[in-house]
Amino acid sequence: MSRPVYDSPRTAKSLATAEAPPAPQAVPVRAAAVPPALELRGVSKSFGHPGGDQLVLDDIGLAVAPGEFVCLLGASGCGKSTLLGLAAGIDEPSAGTVSAVGPRPALMFQEHALFPWLTAGKNIELALRLRGVPRRERRPEAERLLGLVRLNGAYGKRVHELSGGMRQRVALARALAQASQVLLMDEPFAALDAITRDLLHDELIRVWHEWNQPAGGARSLSVLFVTHNVREAVRLGGRVVLLASRPGRIARQWRIDLTYPRRLEDEAVAEKSKEITEELRKEISRHAGS
Ligand SMILES: Nc1ncnc2c1ncn2[C@@H]1O[C@H](COP(=O)(O)OP(=O)(O)OP(=O)(O)O)[C@@H](O)[C@H]1O
Ligand SMILES: [Mg+2]
Repeated sequence: MSRPVYDSPRTAKSLATAEAPPAPQAVPVRAAAVPPALELRGVSKSFGHPGGDQLVLDDIGLAVAPGEFVCLLGASGCGKSTLLGLAAGIDEPSAGTVSAVGPRPALMFQEHALFPWLTAGKNIELALRLRGVPRRERRPEAERLLGLVRLNGAYGKRVHELSGGMRQRVALARALAQASQVLLMDEPFAALDAITRDLLHDELIRVWHEWNQPAGGARSLSVLFVTHNVREAVRLGGRVVLLASRPGRIARQWRIDLTYPRRLEDEAVAEKSKEITEELRKEISRHAGS
């Protein structure tokens, strides 16, 4: 079994050396060495196929620290969604272990997966009900979560009355309603136009940051975000993990020590993206035609 790639969360020193921030600031610090919020150890996954089993993920060691934001990059079909499904507990690994702190991780997809017959507010209340929140507390909490994703006033709106970006905001609010400490996101903004996507990047970083403020309680929120888009990964992540294909293995990872807020067009984001794109290209061409 390979050594888990978990490396310790940011230290106070690394934050202290960051420039004075325009809020929101970089990854919040909780403790120098705390157990990971999510950990995959020696995880492999095979699917049965007529010609024999297909090994999709091979010996994955990945640990996400409390409050960490990790982006997972890789070519189409390399196993990113499979890895997220294992992390979410909706599928079982063929080998290895998956563990997460707190309630089951929340999962958010490219498609909003909201119930169209319910209003935005009721979609969120359903998640609260499943979590066991008492009836009288559900509506105020749903309204609070809608406010958090800047959708005040959308409580009574039905899904078809909302734009694509608004639907993904509701989906984010619903994911947050689960009060999980790990949020798994599978290309959640891939279907949106570039401007809406850019806005939602800002919103997601703001929400993640607010959730991790000490004032928000002892709970942290870690994010594992799957994308094909290198710039998106560098704009959002404190760490970017590149998966190789066939079988999916961790090829490389980068710590992104850039302060927030970041912009897609920032020179530092562009520079880091270039380096990572070159590696991604190598990974894709290594498997092209194989
Ligand atoms: N339930 C399943 N049964 C059989 N094969 C599967 C199953 N789920 C995934 N696979 C196979 O596993 C491989 C990885 O699929 P996965 O969806 O995880 O890739 P991905 O990296 O998310 O791709 P994309 O970027 O296109 O979303 C593919 O070859 C796919 O066909
Ligand atoms: Mg996928």
